[in-house]
Amino acid sequence: MHSCCARKIIVWSLCLIFYLSHSILVCGSSPPKHLCRQDQRDALWEFKSEFPLSGMAADEKTQTWRNNSDCCSWDGITCDPKTGNVAELNLWGSSLNGSLRSSSDFIGDLKYLRVLRLSGCNLFGKLPSSLGNLSDLTVLELDGNGFTGELPVSLGNLKQLTKLLVASSKLSGNFHHALLNLTELTAINLVSNQLEGTLPSNMSSLSKLEYFDIGSNLFSGFVPSSLFMIPSLIHLKLERNHFNSLLEIGNFSSPSKLQTLSLGGNRLSGPIPGFISKLVGLSSLDLSFWDTLRDEVDFSTFLHLKSLTFLDISTLNTRSIVDMSLFSHFESLSLLSLSRNTVKFSSTLHLVSPIGSLALASCNISEFPKFLRTQTSLFNLDISQNQIKGKVPAWLWSLPGLTYVDFSLNSFTGFDGPADVFQRNEISMLDISSNSFQVPFPLLPQSMTFLAASDNQFSGEIPTTICELVSLDVLVLSNNNFSGSIPRCFENFNTKLSILHLRNNSLSGKFPEESVSVALISLDVGRNQLSGELPKSLINCTHLEFLNVEDNMFNDTFPFRLRLLPGLQILVLRSNKFHGSLYSPRSSPSFSKLRIIDISKNLFTGALPLDYFAGWSEMSSGVYTPDNKQKRFIGITFLNYRKSVVLANKGSEREFLGSSFSIYKIIDVSGNRFEGDIPKSICLLKELNVLNMSNNAFIGSIPPSFSNLTNLQSLDLSKNRLSGKIPPELGKLTFLAWMNFSYNNLEGPIPQGTQIQTQDSSSFLQNPGLCGAPLHKICSGEEEGTLNQDKEDEEEDQVLSWIAVAIAYVPGVFCGFIVGHILASYRHDWFKGIFRYFS
Ligand SMILES: *[C@@H]1O[C@H](CO)[C@@H](O)[C@H](O)[C@H]1NC(C)=O
Ligand SMILES: *[C@@H]1O[C@H](CO)[C@@H](O)[C@H](O)[C@H]1NC(C)=O
Ligand SMILES: *[C@@H]1O[C@H](CO)[C@@H](O)[C@H](O)[C@H]1NC(C)=O
Ligand SMILES: *[C@@H]1O[C@H](CO)[C@@H](O)[C@H](O)[C@H]1NC(C)=O
Ligand SMILES: *[C@@H]1O[C@H](CO)[C@@H](O)[C@H](O)[C@H]1NC(C)=O
Ligand SMILES: *[C@@H]1O[C@H](CO)[C@@H](O)[C@H](O)[C@H]1NC(C)=O
Ligand SMILES: *[C@@H]1O[C@H](CO)[C@@H](O)[C@H](O)[C@H]1NC(C)=O
Ligand SMILES: *[C@@H]1O[C@H](CO)[C@@H](O)[C@H](O)[C@H]1NC(C)=O
Ligand SMILES: *[C@@H]1O[C@H](CO)[C@@H](O)[C@H](O)[C@H]1NC(C)=O
Ligand SMILES: *[C@@H]1O[C@H](CO)[C@@H](O)[C@H](O)[C@H]1NC(C)=O
Ligand SMILES: *[C@@H]1O[C@H](CO)[C@@H](O)[C@H](O)[C@H]1NC(C)=O
Ligand SMILES: *[C@@H]1O[C@H](CO)[C@@H](O)[C@H](O)[C@H]1NC(C)=O
Repeated sequence: MHSCCARKIIVWSLCLIFYLSHSILVCGSSPPKHLCRQDQRDALWEFKSEFPLSGMAADEKTQTWRNNSDCCSWDGITCDPKTGNVAELNLWGSSLNGSLRSSSDFIGDLKYLRVLRLSGCNLFGKLPSSLGNLSDLTVLELDGNGFTGELPVSLGNLKQLTKLLVASSKLSGNFHHALLNLTELTAINLVSNQLEGTLPSNMSSLSKLEYFDIGSNLFSGFVPSSLFMIPSLIHLKLERNHFNSLLEIGNFSSPSKLQTLSLGGNRLSGPIPGFISKLVGLSSLDLSFWDTLRDEVDFSTFLHLKSLTFLDISTLNTRSIVDMSLFSHFESLSLLSLSRNTVKFSSTLHLVSPIGSLALASCNISEFPKFLRTQTSLFNLDISQNQIKGKVPAWLWSLPGLTYVDFSLNSFTGFDGPADVFQRNEISMLDISSNSFQVPFPLLPQSMTFLAASDNQFSGEIPTTICELVSLDVLVLSNNNFSGSIPRCFENFNTKLSILHLRNNSLSGKFPEESVSVALISLDVGRNQLSGELPKSLINCTHLEFLNVEDNMFNDTFPFRLRLLPGLQILVLRSNKFHGSLYSPRSSPSFSKLRIIDISKNLFTGALPLDYFAGWSEMSSGVYTPDNKQKRFIGITFLNYRKSVVLANKGSEREFLGSSFSIYKIIDVSGNRFEGDIPKSICLLKELNVLNMSNNAFIGSIPPSFSNLTNLQSLDLSKNRLSGKIPPELGKLTFLAWMNFSYNNLEGPIPQGTQIQTQDSSSFLQNPGLCGAPLHKICSGEEEGTLNQDKEDEEEDQVLSWIAVAIAYVPGVFCGFIVGHILASYRHDWFKGIFRYFS
């Protein structure tokens, strides 16, 4: 023991010398030799074997573990130099792909663990309450996994804990009082979970807390003032929750150390509390979406906060005007967002702060901000939704770092300067949509990845200079008057372009095969005069989710091959000259992810087989993932493009934009020449909201199993040759607000269910045999004809066997992609800024 210590002292002295002269690494490479304890090695080995899929990749840490070697030498394991106990388990970034099961007693054997780091390990399931037995634990780091359920109350036993980090999982439940016992905590990070409820009112016991981040959760109620009384607190991040009040704070006991205060994106309202002006150490302040209820705001509150580098006071709902000269007093502002407040500035304004990101969206600005001329650090500029007219000044493009620019929704008419004004610039994303830009189309630099120029007055052929922008990921030229054909040189985009929207122009000719990028996720060429066949090469677009070619002159058969695209969710062929059968015995379409199919107003013919809809699993059991808050911020910057579709719902057509239609599941086959019976398998599509089969030649009776479509809101069967009775079961469909049976051969009494009786009589007209309210024809009593019950039963049996087929197509986890892309159209300037700012 003695000699060991002496040796250690020598080693340490040597280390010190080495450190001074050379490198600390030398020291780290010769730790005191300790064999790990048998029981701990077995426990670790058991832990490893809980994750049979881990370690497949050669670079995984557990891959290097060997059962017959000293576990203290294993990757990711650190032993206590004195006792030899395993003190640290650090498998950061390993693909463990499993759950931390509480059944496992490895935790009992590793009870001397001081540091447990399992961030980004692809773990899921509940956090085991046995974690609370690791009483020596100081660091629990589990960020970026998929944990569900609540934080175990037993964590309240970890009296030594200084860091509790479980960010970016799917935790639910409350912030439990037991956590207040963890008086040694310096950092709590639970950002991006689904935690809810109120925070405990007295959080003062966390008296050493420096970092508290519970942003992007569902917490509500008041923000406890006790948080502000914790003298050590440096970063307080509560943004994007549902907090609705903040108590006015008394005098601070000591000068506050607070550097970060993020309260944005909550439901806070009323006056902005004056105590904020005393937080003079703040460098980051986010009060966005604070609703001052059209009251006045004293912006001089912020004047004292001289150290601010980040200020987001967008969307305050105030009558007051923000005078930008306020910010001439700041010296280190790097991000400033004033969007959706009224802003004024003089033409001589000069800001000394080197601003990187400036958001002035919807600020009632009518003059181009000349003060930007000296802002040579600017990389992100959002001045969308203002009333700026005239040309974009040429000097803007000499700002060396300018990368993201959003001019959308103004009245710009063009770009000042020579044709090559952009050439020296490194701009990557440019949004000029919804202005009055006209030809010539600007010559943009090759650094462009995102170009949105929709809703302008560009005309003539699509300039082939666009094809030189070989890095483009998004190209949106919708709602202009481009004519001619889709350029063949779009083949330059063959591997990168994922969004191509050319909707509502005057494009004609065939869609060139080579112009289809294999990376396409969204393709919209609707409302043009394109003709010929759909490009066959679409089948190579394995990421395609949205395809809209409505309102063209495509003359082709149904694109059966697209059923092989695994992610296709929306298919719109409406109003073209598609023809032939919708059914091919060789390749019956089973679009497993399809949510919306609109093939109306074409020339399709033939009957649909009874089992036609078996396998459309998204419509039969898909679960819509609501657009919840945190998803808005998954690494998406400003992709200001919108999907749009014209849909017939409840009898009228209208254009739906952005996310407004994506929540629906819709089948529209109206206006074709389909014949035969309505396929009974349609009753499998339990998630269907809108069904339009009107204007065809369907025969037979309305299947009573329609009553299984419990989410149906709109049903149009008009203008067919349907016969028999209207099934009374339809009256049970409580969401079915609109239906139309007119122009058929239906007969018998109209069922008395409430849903049916609220319909206008026009929904039943032109059916010679129908009687009863709301029609004026009174039933004579002879209409009570009997149905052919045997036939019905037989068909129900068949349906049951298709259910088996449908089950075989059980969808995987709902593909979040479309949500992501709809979110992409959500404009949040704060995030736009932060994107580059912190990376
Ligand atoms: C673990 O999951 C990740 C992501 O889901 C996957 O990429 C990886 O291949 C999986 N590892 C194993 C060994 O299955
Ligand atoms: C690991 O080795 C121990 C003995 O050293 C043995 O008891 C145990 O079964 C081994 N485990 C595995 C998974 O090989
Ligand atoms: C945790 O501690 C409790 C009580 O001390 C004990 O009953 C339990 O078995 C322990 N769990 C594990 C996994 O060691
Ligand atoms: C927290 O501390 C209080 C009082 O010190 C004690 O009664 C309670 O059991 C503790 N809770 C937990 C979960 O440790
Ligand atoms: C909050 O807790 C602290 C210590 O835990 C105590 O000193 C203080 O009086 C409490 N305050 C309130 C309002 O309960
Ligand atoms: C804070 O302190 C000032 C004087 O330092 C005093 O006038 C004021 O009333 C105090 N406010 C509260 C809420 O205690
Ligand atoms: C917006 O600006 C115009 C002048 O450019 C002004 O007349 C109008 O009052 C402003 N609106 C608001 C709400 O400040
Ligand atoms: C189509 O584009 C023109 C401009 O070229 C625009 O005026 C019109 O509103 C657009 N139509 C739709 C439905 O967006
Ligand atoms: C669109 O361009 C065509 C010529 O290519 C022209 O005839 C037409 O009038 C233009 N339409 C509009 C709305 O400018
Ligand atoms: C799809 O891609 C493959 C490989 O690049 C190519 O050989 C094939 O011709 C493409 N298919 C179509 C229909 O373009
Ligand atoms: C579609 O194309 C075929 C062959 O090119 C042609 O015979 C037919 O008339 C076209 N249909 C329409 C409606 O234009
Ligand atoms: C339709 O619902 C009824 C009960 O409402 C059920 O007996 C029948 O099996 C269902 N049919 C299908 C195809 O789901």
